[in-house]
Amino acid sequence: MTGPSSGPAVGRPIARIEGRAKVTGRARFAAEYPIRGVVHAVPVLSTVSSGRIGTIDTAEAEAMPGVLKVLTHLNAPKLPYLQRKDKPATDPSVGEPFRPLRSDVIRFDRQYVALVVATTLEQAEAAAAKVQVTYLGTGGVSTFDSALPGAHQPTEGKTSAPYRRGRPEAAFEAAAVRIDQRFIMPAEHHNPLEPHATIAVWNGNKLTLYDKSQWVQNVQRHAALAFGVPYANVRVLSPFMGGGFGSALRAWPHIDLVAMAAKVVGRPVKLSLSREAMYGTVGFRPETRMRVRLGADRSGRINALMHEAWAQTSTYEEFTENTLGATRLMYDVPNLSTTYRMVPMNISTPTYMRGPGEVTGMFALESALDELAVALDIDPVELRLKNEPPVDPESGLPWSVRSYTQALRLGAERFGWSRRTPAARSMTDGGLLIGMGMAGATYPGNRNPASARVVMNIDGTVTVQSAGTDIGPGTYTSMAQVAADAVGVDVGQVKVELADSQLPYSFAQGGSALFASLSPAVREAGRQVSRQLAELAVADRNSPLYGTPLAALTVRSGRVFVTSDTARSDTFAALLRRAQRTLDARVTSSPAAGPPTHSIHSFGAHFVELSVDPDVFEIRVRRMVSAYGVGRVVNPRTAHSQAVGGMIGGVGMALLEHTDRDLRLGRHMNANLSEYLIAVHADIPVLEPFYLEEVDPHIGPLGAKGLGELPIVGVAAAISNAVYHATGTRIRELPITLDKLL
Ligand code: MOS
Repeated sequence: MTGPSSGPAVGRPIARIEGRAKVTGRARFAAEYPIRGVVHAVPVLSTVSSGRIGTIDTAEAEAMPGVLKVLTHLNAPKLPYLQRKDKPATDPSVGEPFRPLRSDVIRFDRQYVALVVATTLEQAEAAAAKVQVTYLGTGGVSTFDSALPGAHQPTEGKTSAPYRRGRPEAAFEAAAVRIDQRFIMPAEHHNPLEPHATIAVWNGNKLTLYDKSQWVQNVQRHAALAFGVPYANVRVLSPFMGGGFGSALRAWPHIDLVAMAAKVVGRPVKLSLSREAMYGTVGFRPETRMRVRLGADRSGRINALMHEAWAQTSTYEEFTENTLGATRLMYDVPNLSTTYRMVPMNISTPTYMRGPGEVTGMFALESALDELAVALDIDPVELRLKNEPPVDPESGLPWSVRSYTQALRLGAERFGWSRRTPAARSMTDGGLLIGMGMAGATYPGNRNPASARVVMNIDGTVTVQSAGTDIGPGTYTSMAQVAADAVGVDVGQVKVELADSQLPYSFAQGGSALFASLSPAVREAGRQVSRQLAELAVADRNSPLYGTPLAALTVRSGRVFVTSDTARSDTFAALLRRAQRTLDARVTSSPAAGPPTHSIHSFGAHFVELSVDPDVFEIRVRRMVSAYGVGRVVNPRTAHSQAVGGMIGGVGMALLEHTDRDLRLGRHMNANLSEYLIAVHADIPVLEPFYLEEVDPHIGPLGAKGLGELPIVGVAAAISNAVYHATGTRIRELPITLDKLL
């Protein structure tokens, strides 16, 4: 059965074990489940962002062929929405989530105002187009500026609470060189390739949801509370996902709608959001305006740093993100403050989007640092090296592993930073201006509780089970690698089952935390199975190892053998054939209890070369080198894919992405992929990410920190700094479109 393992699976560039299923179409995505008798729901979306529904006329739609039901706030069942302490953890802690079809109040653009259910999708779409809605009191739409006077500090929230150390104002005033600038991160939408989709199937008071979710047990909890049924009555499956980026962390209201519709019509119902509908209620990165003040002495020691943020939220929930956390720990600044204020507007509640908060804050901080380097006439890499903190300046804790200086040095070397001439507009190529810029990156090393089950089957294969999801980074593969090594089999023997709420509990795939959270449970369960194999051997009269003390045995490569005499062995195949039973272990793993002993973060540095056409200001990124320190790299192949994905997202953020609202009705104007621009192949040059040699012993037994978010943090600043170097023009509002350079 088991061929000899070709060495440890962890660390090898193994191709995705689910890759073939994905490229051959055998992998099922939420909308693709073939459910007998399924009917289709299509929402009607508001065309204003505030006011009330005046009239809603569904008569024509209801009379159309195939239409089973048209739900509005007038006839939709009032769901119980039980309030429990253990409410979905991805909901903001302050405020009341939006409940669809609950009232006539319009709180944001493209709010659900009706839901048409029909036998076919085409019938539902045709009827949805015939629902007539009028609105009242649609004026008074807030813009960022008009909403600013209502800005306030968040009611709660650790990372967004006001923070200060030392005397930042006085230190800033006394500084020899000062930078005081304002920066803007626009609103951005996730735009995953696969739209959000849910199929709801009721069986009595049991509900099954085939959903696109980064956290199936969160959706399970949400749906159970919404419909007032026990958690155990709801099952959620999301084995494959075409991109999440944070938009599928929360359980959004289309889940309530589709399950409500299924109940009302007594049939399974499918709802797949249109691209446009995804600009309604599946979240977005909030527009955030920032002010950064930096004060330094002539040698480049930073003595004062004040970072303030004003970020959008909705009128009904307080969404905050970790915009200012990186500022507090990036550099050794004795006098520092951060202030977060939220700006409630008539928009739907924003949510986490790749590198949530960190990318926003680091765009401002790392741009401002570049401005300081220019003002001081110091190399920007040198400036960062001069301000390296020996311990975490916020907590005072030692770093677990902080490899920022290595990232800066090795990244600069690989990029050829020494070839850069410092003055702006000093480098050219033919008629083009050449810019070289750099910026730093960081992301917290998060870890949450998670459980896994590992089963050794009689045929010698191993099954790993957990409710954790794989939204694309390669969790199926990495968990197979971890289990293979822990049990002692080849990775090809391992099957991984994920993202079914009936499987052992796992926290979300989010916050770059899933690998660090789940791998310890998989590893320990695998080791228990391997111990059970040894126990089986010593208790089995027909085994050559019968009666051998357990401590004398090693389990590896599909065999149990005497450590000092490897010829005395038994194979898993023979053991299982004789025993005719499966072996099974289930483990829950949590981060160490008690206060943290180390500050755990990933670090990185980006180096960018680009050209700017001096006549038409077209910016072309030419190459990008990024150095990342993320602890152990479990799979260099999937890790590379994560890195380039983040870097590409960063190019989009720097040069293209932004969601615009019109000032009259507060609508998202570019709610489609032809007007919301993302980076495509032609925008992407040679990308050269590399990972530093590093193991972080404090994150967990495998020493691997997450790498989902880090790669995008700081990219926009590196590009903006390169644009400055090329042109001498500093753009502090993303994206850097050519009109801003005119
Ligand atoms: Mo990530 S924004 O936590 O999916």
